Amino acid sequence: MEPSTTSGKPIITIGQHIQTEQWAHPTATGELSWLLGAITLATKIIESNVRNAGIRDVLGATGVSNVQGELVQKLDQISNDTIVRCLGYYDNVGIMVSEEDDEPIVAKDVGEKGKYIVLFDPLDGSSNIDVNVSIGTIFSIMQRRSDTPPSDAPLSECLQPGINQVAAGYVVYGSSTVMAYTTGNGVHMFTLDPSFGAFVLTRENIQMPPEGKMYSVNEAYRGTFPEGYQRYLEWAKTKDAGTYSLRYIGSLVADFHRTLLRGGVFLYPPTAQAPGGKLRLLYEANPLSWIAEQAGGAASDGRRRILEKQPESLHQRTPLILGSKTEVERVLSFLD
Ligand code: AHG
Ligand code: MN
Ligand code: MN
Repeated sequence: MEPSTTSGKPIITIGQHIQTEQWAHPTATGELSWLLGAITLATKIIESNVRNAGIRDVLGATGVSNVQGELVQKLDQISNDTIVRCLGYYDNVGIMVSEEDDEPIVAKDVGEKGKYIVLFDPLDGSSNIDVNVSIGTIFSIMQRRSDTPPSDAPLSECLQPGINQVAAGYVVYGSSTVMAYTTGNGVHMFTLDPSFGAFVLTRENIQMPPEGKMYSVNEAYRGTFPEGYQRYLEWAKTKDAGTYSLRYIGSLVADFHRTLLRGGVFLYPPTAQAPGGKLRLLYEANPLSWIAEQAGGAASDGRRRILEKQPESLHQRTPLILGSKTEVERVLSFLD
């Protein structure tokens, strides 16, 4: 495989890019850059486990269920432990919130120094792990709002709306391993070059196509979607809608990555089984919604902007309509 160093383009690693972003903020202390670097390291380790899953004994379930009531896959647990270990000791991380842990993980003895909260879905798309379909990692970073020791009030500090995020990103472990992140200054994308193990800049300031003739939903549950969603899906199949395609991978992070690059809309409506939606607000919907908006897209729960939702609980679920502005607005027009 030719390393990315062979093309004539400048080679910028994610570390250098984050550093450049940091210099653009005169008050930046470099702590956020360090955090993003630690997350990048964790995703490289996860990537190595994903790539070797069939060889290393990391496939299959652990036999325990998580707070979501889902069977935890071995790779979920390994990915979770990896992120905690890569972030855990650093004293600027006060609290970690993971899909796999019931309660917030409070870093000990950080006092007011532990100013960041890192929220993550260590491995998204777990049902696809054993069948070699793209999966990913999603993360969101916020700042604690008080300087009381995090052990005193971890939960209330984590329940902040998505507009408070200071950084968000995802990694797709697919045919190649791609990371996208934002710190509020556009969306930038990197591809892992396995020949030397670095994420190299491949796209800067990504703009999501304003429309896209693709919708992404699990139509098996269509019969229990609220009426408006069913009307939208009927419309999308009519001639005057133009030729929509249905693409559904079943890993949110992969379905979103395609939507970010090609346009279209991802939907996970309320269902009989999940009347409040299936996807989690804090570490799935918020980070991807901010990335979508930073790329000119939109994200709603069917009634309001995802990023303005005030979370009531750590693992709160939400309906999610995410993608090109025009396509999201079109879905919403059927929900009135
Ligand atoms: P996770 O593996 O982190 O629990 O997330 C799975 C989610 C999301 O990735 C995907 O969009 C959705 O579950 C698929 O749900 P259905 O199988 O109900 O379609
Ligand atoms: Mn997930
Ligand atoms: Mn997960």
